[in-house]
Amino acid sequence: IDALFQPKDLAGRKVLITAGPTFEPWDAVRGLTNRSSGKMGWALARAAWERGAEVQLVAGPTALDEPYGVRWVGVETARQMREAVQAALPGVDVFIAAAAVADWRPAAAQPGKLKKQSGEPPPVLYLDTNPDILAEVAARADAPYCVGFAAETDNLAANAQAKRLRKGVPMLIGNIGPQAFGRDDNACVLIDANGMTELPRMDKLALARRILHEIAARLPNDQS
Ligand code: CTP
Ligand code: CA
Repeated sequence: IDALFQPKDLAGRKVLITAGPTFEPWDAVRGLTNRSSGKMGWALARAAWERGAEVQLVAGPTALDEPYGVRWVGVETARQMREAVQAALPGVDVFIAAAAVADWRPAAAQPGKLKKQSGEPPPVLYLDTNPDILAEVAARADAPYCVGFAAETDNLAANAQAKRLRKGVPMLIGNIGPQAFGRDDNACVLIDANGMTELPRMDKLALARRILHEIAARLPNDQS
């Protein structure tokens, strides 16, 4: 019901959102991933849809139901996520990178399943660095308004401020990862060129509505 009362200030805007973790295969049954549940990305997609936006969600593997009202594409790896983002990018006004993209992937995914050999030492896992999807989008000449997320474990304010500048994005939302993963609520800080605003702990949908409100207020309104 609350959905009806959200201002339609994103009508005519296209919003692209990444969500969830990525999964980086090591062999046919094993891989690297992380604790992102996708709930914040889903809430952001819903909040953008409520404000009238055309929403495209690109999501890694999660246990969540298909979101209502938004276009959705499922991916597994960071490289697949980057490809789906680039394909969806033309005409996008806002890019929100809520996904917890794996920073590294096993350098060579093994076909089949690695088997234990008795008496052998354990295998060594070599990693390669994944592309930084957000930094790549933000660096484009035709970049949409970009919003990053940062899950930190300590020094939230300083780490998040530094990350906003390093990523070259106008807005970064920072939180303490272990206090957010999998939960239905979260607390965070919103950082932009004007400084930092604390958003107190609230339900992820309420938080997403607040974040979309802040984004909508910052969009240039020259729509042609
Ligand atoms: N991100 C991304 N692609 C990556 C890594 C991160 O798009 N390969 C995005 C995330 O979706 C998030 C933002 O970048 O919006 C920050 O992610 P984070 O992991 O906090 O930053 P990193 O630069 O990877 O730094 P860290 O060493 O703290 O992990
Ligand atoms: Ca990272």
